[in-house]
Amino acid sequence: MDAFLYVGLPYLSLTVLIVGTVVRFRQAPFSVSSLSSQVLEKKQLALGTIPWHIGILILLAGHLVAFLVPDIWRSLTANRAFLLTVETIGFMAAAMAAFGLSVLVYRRLVTARLQAVTNRMDLVVLGLLLVQVLLGIGVALGKRWGAQWSAGTTSPYLWSLFTFQPDMTYVSDLPASVKLHLGLAWVMFALIPFTRLIHGFSVPLGYLWRAPQQVIWTTRRRLTRETARAGGVNPETSRRHFVKGLGGLVAAGVLMSVGVLDKLVGYFRGQRLDRTEQVDLLEKKLERLRATAEEQSLELERLQKDAILVAQLGQLDPKIGRYFTDYQMRPALAFKGADHLPILISAKCTHLGCTVASNVDDKGQIMCPCHISYFDIRTGQPNPGAPAKLPLPRLGWLLKDAKGTVMLTQDGAGNRTWPQGQEALDPASLDGLEVWIAKRFDTEGA
Ligand code: HEM
Ligand code: FES
Repeated sequence: MDAFLYVGLPYLSLTVLIVGTVVRFRQAPFSVSSLSSQVLEKKQLALGTIPWHIGILILLAGHLVAFLVPDIWRSLTANRAFLLTVETIGFMAAAMAAFGLSVLVYRRLVTARLQAVTNRMDLVVLGLLLVQVLLGIGVALGKRWGAQWSAGTTSPYLWSLFTFQPDMTYVSDLPASVKLHLGLAWVMFALIPFTRLIHGFSVPLGYLWRAPQQVIWTTRRRLTRETARAGGVNPETSRRHFVKGLGGLVAAGVLMSVGVLDKLVGYFRGQRLDRTEQVDLLEKKLERLRATAEEQSLELERLQKDAILVAQLGQLDPKIGRYFTDYQMRPALAFKGADHLPILISAKCTHLGCTVASNVDDKGQIMCPCHISYFDIRTGQPNPGAPAKLPLPRLGWLLKDAKGTVMLTQDGAGNRTWPQGQEALDPASLDGLEVWIAKRFDTEGA
């Protein structure tokens, strides 16, 4: 079921979207429109359509940024103030979209003139959009800080789809409401070519450069008057047209100048950074480059090496975990257990993927701060009633001496082996041994 929902459905829906849209543009290009009903009913349309479009465009732009630049997004949302700001903007946009859409649904249902031009598909689309927006709001409120956890779950999942290496493990443990939100999104993408949603692809930019056309409502009186004057130029009409044209030109000119001025001010502002601001800017850029380089070298190391050093056993602490990155580039924690041997455990919360804190409480648990789940560090199990239902996977490890000889191994399920014999391991010199993670334990989390 999950394979269909997370891999089959997205590819099916995107294929239908692309093929259906191309066919519709080729076969019936003039049907690609929103089929405006403005002439039939105006007031409620404005009340609904304006907040709906403002709200949904902000939301979709937000979804897109989180998907396109997940790393930048993750570091931005790590800042509490930024996170609260985007969540508030998202919520306001969602409330606007939900309100606007409700008005649009109500209007189609109660206005008699509109009923005549409303088909079943219109109602299905409006209904699905409303459900999707309400589900989104439910997710945002019920599973807080989606702007943060989506960077480690839905964003990498979408990337995996678009790079044709689908990996549903990022999302398969997400709660039902998020699953439904994702599933419905795919269904709606597939519906686009068959409904008026297709107008999203026909932003009327052509109006900017096509030759002007004047639409004149013809009344009988005007027709008679114009016919009588046929052949001759009416100076009154001509002057009126000239003034109107000039007005339009001036308005367009003012708008363009504002745009150009804005760009110019931005350009010169950029140049007018003083020395300390320039240094600050460069330092920030450098910091970002260093972080990216560090991440890429970690990834490379994981591809090339069969085992990776975590720390010396003597550096590990029973109460404060030491963070490291596992083979899947996920955060993990290392502790020293009561038997003085390592405990390695994933730090990616099994609820929605936030990073679990490193401090161990009196009950031997670490906590995920996002929605408060406690996990036992020895078993990985969450506390009863926690939002997280699955245990944090435990990681296998190797203990090597200074010469690189493997003295003891433990897999993710806790099975130990002593390659040099149990008696070769001196309990008194454990602290001098090195703790490594190994590629062969990579998939054995338990
Ligand atoms: C594959 C596509 C989609 C993904 C991966 C996705 C994912 C998400 C996630 C993770 C959230 C929680 C964000 C937060 O808490 O700040 C969310 C919220 C939301 N989504 Fe989507 N979504 C998708 C498509 C859509 C579509 C097509 C619509 C509308 C037609 C939509 C409307 C909303 C709304 C209204 C919210 C609430 C925003 C808020 O209150 O902050 N989503 N979505
Ligand atoms: S992400 Fe929700 S409890 Fe950890």
